[in-house]
Order: sequence, then C-alpha cells, then structure tokens
Amino acid sequence: MTLFDFKTTSQPEPANRGPVRTLIASPDLGLVNAVQTTAQLMTDRIMLVSIAPAAGLIEGMLGTSQPEIIVLDAEFAREMGEQPFFDLLGKLGQTIALVVFPPVSNVAAVQNRLAQFSPVRGSFPKPCDPQALLAEAARQALTERVRLEQTSPLLSSPTRPVSHGGQLNICVIAFKKGGVGKTTVAVSLWDWFNKNLGSSLLVGFDTPDDCAAQLHLSPQPNMLQYFHTPTFEGLRASIQKFQGQADVILSPGDDRMAQKELSEASKGGQIIGSQIIRELLVEAAMANPGYHAIIMDVPPSYDAYAIRPMAFANRLLLVIEPDLQCLTKAVDGIEKFAERAHEPIDRNKIAVVINRWTPVTKYQVKDIEEGFRQGLGGWCPPIIARIPYDENVREYQVDGLIPGARKGPFAESIDALGQYFTGQSAQATTKRSLFPFKLPQVKVG
Ligand SMILES: Nc1ncnc2c1ncn2[C@@H]1O[C@H](COP(=O)(O)OP(=O)(O)O)[C@@H](O)[C@H]1O
Ligand SMILES: [Mg+2]
Repeated sequence: MTLFDFKTTSQPEPANRGPVRTLIASPDLGLVNAVQTTAQLMTDRIMLVSIAPAAGLIEGMLGTSQPEIIVLDAEFAREMGEQPFFDLLGKLGQTIALVVFPPVSNVAAVQNRLAQFSPVRGSFPKPCDPQALLAEAARQALTERVRLEQTSPLLSSPTRPVSHGGQLNICVIAFKKGGVGKTTVAVSLWDWFNKNLGSSLLVGFDTPDDCAAQLHLSPQPNMLQYFHTPTFEGLRASIQKFQGQADVILSPGDDRMAQKELSEASKGGQIIGSQIIRELLVEAAMANPGYHAIIMDVPPSYDAYAIRPMAFANRLLLVIEPDLQCLTKAVDGIEKFAERAHEPIDRNKIAVVINRWTPVTKYQVKDIEEGFRQGLGGWCPPIIARIPYDENVREYQVDGLIPGARKGPFAESIDALGQYFTGQSAQATTKRSLFPFKLPQVKVG
C-alpha cells in the first residue's frame, strides 16, 4: 500500500505534444545553418521537415512536407518582388508563419503590414536569436494545435469545452448589409447557448456597438481594456456581465478610435496591428474555466473587425433577408471573404439563415438555393433556418429584453437554430407557430 495518493495535475494535457513540424525558407545560409544547429538541440519541440533556400521551392514543400509552421525570410521579397511575396503569404493554407526580415528603417511599418496576413504569428528584424525564434515557433504552433483540437469537429457537445474535451462553438454572425438582423440573431443565440449549454461569451465588433444598445449596457468597459493589457487579466477587465452573469465584450465603441487602436496595438513589445483581435479571441477560447460558445457580431464591412473574427470562427452564419439584393451580396461576400482574409474560405464553416420571413414572401428556399448555385459555380451553402418576421422583436429590444428569450415565433426559430448547432434533440414540447420551419437534413462538417 502506498501512503501518498499523488493526484495528477488537473490541467489536461493536450492530446498532441510532439515536436512541431517546421519548414525554414531563407536564401540566407548563415541563418539556415544557425537554425539547423539550434533545432538539433531542441528536438523535443522542433522537427525541421524541410529547408527551402529558394522561393520557388516553398509551395511544393508546403504540399509534400505539410509543415505546421514556416519560418520565412522576407529577403525573398528582394528577388521575387514584394507583391508575389505577399501573395505567397496568402497561399500558406493551414501552415502558420513567423517572418524574419532584413534590417529596414521602418521596422514598425513592416511588422504592421505583415501582421495583416492571418497566417503570420510574428515578425522579427534580423539578426535574430535562432533559439528565441524556434522557441516562439514551437509556442505558436502548439497554441494553434490546441485551437484546432478545440474547434473541430464543428458540432459542439454539451460538455464544457476546455475541461471536459467537448468542442467549442466559435460562431460569427456576418453579412455585408445592415439591418438584416445580425445583432438580433447574435444576441438571442448567445442567450440560448448560455441557458442550454452553459457560460458563453458574446463579442461585439461593430461601432457603435449594437449589442450594447440591445442589452442596455454601458459602452465601457470594452475590448480596449484587452488591447491595452493583452493578457488574461486584460481580458477579464474587458468583460461586462449582463444581468450579473452572462459575459459580453463590447467593441471600442467609436470607429475612428477603433482604427487608431489597431494601428498602435502591440503585444510583447512587438507591433501586431489587427492581429490583436485574433489574440483576444485566442485568449477567450483558452480561458479557464472555458466558455461553451463564443458568439461574435461583426460590422457589415471587410475591415479587420469583421475579417479577423470571420477567419477565427469555426461557424460562419450569414444572415440574409429573402430578396435578390441579399442573395447577390451573399454570393459576392462569400467570394470576397477569401480575398480579404488572405486565406481560402473553408466552405464547411458557412451556413445561411433567412430572417424576416413573412406570409407574402415570394422567394422560396429552393429559389434562394438556386441563386447560390448559379453564383457559386454549382455550390450552395446549407440554409439552416428561416426566421419569421415577428412584430414583437423590436419592441422587446426597446425594453432591453432579448427577443429569443420571450415566447413567440422568433424565439422558436432561435431554439431550433441552437439545437442545430449543438446537435441537441428537440425538447418534447409541441410548438405551434404561424410559419414553422423544418430544419433540412444537412450536416455541416
Ligand atoms: N425576425 C425579426 N422580426 C422582426 N423584426 C426583426 C427581426 N429580426 C430583426 N428585426 C429588427 O430589425 C432591425 C435590425 O436588426 P439588427 O439586428 O439591428 O440588424 P443588423 O445587426 O443586421 O444591422 C431591428 O429593429 C430588429 O428589431
Ligand atoms: Mg448590427
């Protein structure tokens, strides 16, 4: 019999802790040699899978050696030109990047530009310490592994995401048109997650923040607290509690200030620009105790406050109204997103919700599907819900009430939407509504 019943640490070990598959791409032999030698001393964390001494080799090596991270030398931009170099950053797919660059007079401007590419996790002027560089590569790639583990497969389980290994729904409600009901759906869905799954976070990115208006919250504190102190403490300081319990992070409130803050954002002494938005979301996704879902309401634009959350989400909910204008914008938006985010769109992420359906609506779901197919080369995102026009919705909001939490046709649709996301079976209630909708048998992911 043993006397000490030692408990193992309560922190769950991520499933995959093996060394990070790393590609080094640089024409600079000195750097390559230094990195190679250092990597041999860090085999627990780094596995060099390939070395690309010429830019032309990189794309092929991405395919054959499937690196998790590339250490990429911007020296290549001198021979291949700046634009082709930036284009290369857009073709990295799942591989994330640390960029090193030759001495320049405008370090902050270069770092800021590089940070706009979603695969880039950091950039460093040369000469840089190879050990610090590889340690950062390992840290970034391991963080990415945890994020991917937590966010796939797409359907959430009703267990806690961090402590019990369930999946985290990171859902962004987006569409490049105002007034279609994005904020209304986001707020109600967040409330549904809070009540049916557990603690969930609402993040507003639009300025001024309509979530604040709908929930009757004050504009401060907001995400600027995190921008100024990008740590877990900063995240805590940025959160407001709705009715003393449900977590909300509001946007900076004013669009001019929001843009200015992005241009100055830094973390660990490095200017990271709009990547601060991603850092905030990583911090929230990793928070312990964890959230069951993160619901994000983004502005109807393609600026960083929309693109960064859309690129981070594992669910992209397009809220449209049943008219030709919305259909055209949705098709256009799905194509443009890939361009703006500098990464191919993962079509499995997208689902469409048609809002403000009325008895006289002419468009049927099949017409909308047909429109998508024509615009998107034969593909149509799953149309997962039809939400009826409900005249009480606005009036509830005037009183600071969440429409999804009141009885009525709108609430029934939100309930069905929540069940769709979580895979929870319908409650044993017989619901009657003027325009009931059936969820089509489409599975995302
Ligand atoms: N299903 C619905 N039925 C009736 N009114 C709705 C519905 N969805 C949204 N609304 C109303 O439409 C207006 C715009 O909604 P909002 O969520 O602010 O749109 P967005 O965020 O896309 O700009 C609000 O006044 C809201 O109350
Ligand atoms: Mg809105």
